[in-house]
Amino acid sequence: MKQKRVHIVTMGCQMNVYDSEQMLRLLVPLNYRSTLRMDKADLILLNTCSIREKAEHKVYSFLGRVARMKRLRPDIIIGVGGCVAQQEGYRLAERAPHIDMVFGTFALGRLPSLIEQVKRQKRQIVDTNARAASEPLCVKGPVLKAERATAFVTIMQGCDNFCTYCVVPYVRGREVSRKPEEVLEEIRLLVENGIREVTLIGQNVNAYGQKNGQGCDFPELLGRVNEIKGLNRIRFTTSHPKDLSERLIEAFYRLDKLAPHIHLPVQSGSDRVLRRMNRGYSRDVYLRKVENLRDVRPGIAITSDMIVGFPGEERVDFEATVDLVRQVGFDSLFLFKYSDRPNVPAAKFSDKVPEAVKGERFSTLLEVQSEFTRKKNRALVGTTQEVLVEGPSKKLPNQLTGRTYCNKVINFADDMARIGQILPVRVVEAFSHSLLGHPVDKGYVEYSGENGGISYAA
Ligand code: 5AD
Ligand code: SF4
Repeated sequence: MKQKRVHIVTMGCQMNVYDSEQMLRLLVPLNYRSTLRMDKADLILLNTCSIREKAEHKVYSFLGRVARMKRLRPDIIIGVGGCVAQQEGYRLAERAPHIDMVFGTFALGRLPSLIEQVKRQKRQIVDTNARAASEPLCVKGPVLKAERATAFVTIMQGCDNFCTYCVVPYVRGREVSRKPEEVLEEIRLLVENGIREVTLIGQNVNAYGQKNGQGCDFPELLGRVNEIKGLNRIRFTTSHPKDLSERLIEAFYRLDKLAPHIHLPVQSGSDRVLRRMNRGYSRDVYLRKVENLRDVRPGIAITSDMIVGFPGEERVDFEATVDLVRQVGFDSLFLFKYSDRPNVPAAKFSDKVPEAVKGERFSTLLEVQSEFTRKKNRALVGTTQEVLVEGPSKKLPNQLTGRTYCNKVINFADDMARIGQILPVRVVEAFSHSLLGHPVDKGYVEYSGENGGISYAA
């Protein structure tokens, strides 16, 4: 069978990154190999994101680009998957007649048969059907990109929370968890293939196992992952503040491999807005959880998401948000301007905030946070951090890039370091989004870091 090439474009979150790898896993038996060159591909797959309006616009501008390619090479197959595919279905197919198939988030496992169908029937195929009970949530067996040290592992999908701004429950469905044995087996295989750090992912990882009835909830799963030999670091995302339990907070004290970083999206600092968002916690509850986290794991990095300009957000609400940002002192913050999404309740709220006001609030908050981000990064200058080497730096040739245990990106020059090594690196300079470091002399190194069981003998 002639070898064919597939080019996958991934937009959006970590789950889409994981899903694109799954697509590749499914395509390898069909004799497809991955190519970075879209112009050389026989199959182009676009894995889309619909979380915000901007993300969706990106999909349509990309489809404009591939339309030209399809005119020149009508034999190529173009497929659109992911959240926009799930959300738009036939509308998307109609709007972009040059695409061959639209496959929603639940149709991922059916990709091989959909491709066969396209080849046979030579007409547009749309599959936004639900996942059948017999179909697994994730494809088995790892496909590893060569030379990497970190991997995402999906542990659950979907969301039952229905925040009034969010499209996820509509495009990813209700919460479904993978069996613990399946997750553990996947991680063991990754470790055998050189992975040193896993990030357990799900739209709401704290809800892991709640419906399985197998007696393994998220803190329990973390404990079991922590026992996997050869694995050095565990991260997870995303965690809903409402469901951040005492036991999960304690896990940061108990588990030596659990990295001292949590992404805990707060979305607003105003109780009134939080209620209208249907977040299920108050500002005080959030602040108390942050305090507890810092008590059990001093120095833990805390990052968050924040939406400005949610419908009905008044000046006082925004001021409460600014105040919360000052009070917490996040390590970094992902800031978003509210945008309407199809079918979400907030789209029908009448008191929309004008774009200009959203813009102003966005800039104000960005400035407030930038100061904290810089301060947090500057505080690391002169310290020695244990860094997991991830690969060559994209921006700085001749440098390597990695992450500290707290998840800060650090670049450094080292001719001897290998991907997957954990090395002590001294921080020499701090920037807004990264650090610059020098490797500490190899040999025996005095190090007072946290990650038990790693020695720095060269
Ligand atoms: N508008 C703006 N931001 C949004 N997010 C989710 N939905 C919207 C929306 N409609 C943000 C939230 C979420 C992050 C992934 O995207 O902050 O945590
Ligand atoms: Fe985007 Fe959310 Fe879908 Fe992830 S789950 S791809 S963030 S819409």
